[in-house]
Amino acid sequence: MPSNSKKDKSIGSSFQAQTKYRRGSLPSKTGKPVASYKVYANPLEVDALPVPALKGGKGLWKTLASGRASIPEGGRLKQRDISQILWATAGFTYGGQRTHASAIPLAGVETYLVVQQVEGIFAGVYHYNPREHCLEYISRDDPHKALQAALLDNADIDACAAVIAYTGLPSRIDDGIKSRAYRYLYLEAGAAAQCAMMATIDLDLSASVRAEFYDDEFSRLLQIDGVSEFPLCVVTLGT
Ligand SMILES: Cc1cc2nc3c(=O)[nH]c(=O)nc-3n(C[C@H](O)[C@H](O)[C@H](O)COP(=O)(O)O)c2cc1C
Repeated sequence: MPSNSKKDKSIGSSFQAQTKYRRGSLPSKTGKPVASYKVYANPLEVDALPVPALKGGKGLWKTLASGRASIPEGGRLKQRDISQILWATAGFTYGGQRTHASAIPLAGVETYLVVQQVEGIFAGVYHYNPREHCLEYISRDDPHKALQAALLDNADIDACAAVIAYTGLPSRIDDGIKSRAYRYLYLEAGAAAQCAMMATIDLDLSASVRAEFYDDEFSRLLQIDGVSEFPLCVVTLGT
């Protein structure tokens, strides 16, 4: 864990205390309509993904018992694996809800895919559009250098075929003074990352969750401002 002595060491406990709900002083709801997910007006290109399988697999108990994080060892991923993992982590259920647990009906997190080695998908940075189950191409630059520089503990990045990145938009959480928005975003991203991990285990692929990155560098890679929308965590994917 990098140390930063200038930072307020009590910020965590202060955040927790200041966002407590107390009887008799709950924040009022704004009732303001919120966007359900990000829509890119002019993506460089839109790549449809194969229809995800909604049946089959190892079975939940077996998947849970099968393993946890594992380090990618190189090799390419298939487009249909990426499709399955993206659906599992951030797609829609039969009932029109998100696959991961979410604090608001359509979630406060967005999902991006940084591609290095995936059959049928060019290297670059993509936004996952859950409604259309497609990828919106937002950068054609080779992401390898920026990815390697942005992630701490980046030893396995060369061997990693793709990275899923989750970002949070606190303005999505319709909570009056927004006191709980950040709590919800962290929880949602964790839930989404866990769904991605389960999918990769089911597909006999490798994945690990990372939350150690240089925030501003990662924001630049995803072309987000880092303030109204910021990175929360990533899942590295490989074979
Ligand atoms: C929320 C979260 C964030 C993590 N961030 C990092 C990270 O940035 N770098 C890292 O090497 N491991 C990180 N890990 C740990 C790895 O994902 C993995 O769990 C670890 O390498 C140990 O593997 P194990 O779960 O099989 O014990 C994180 C795990 C979680 C749940």
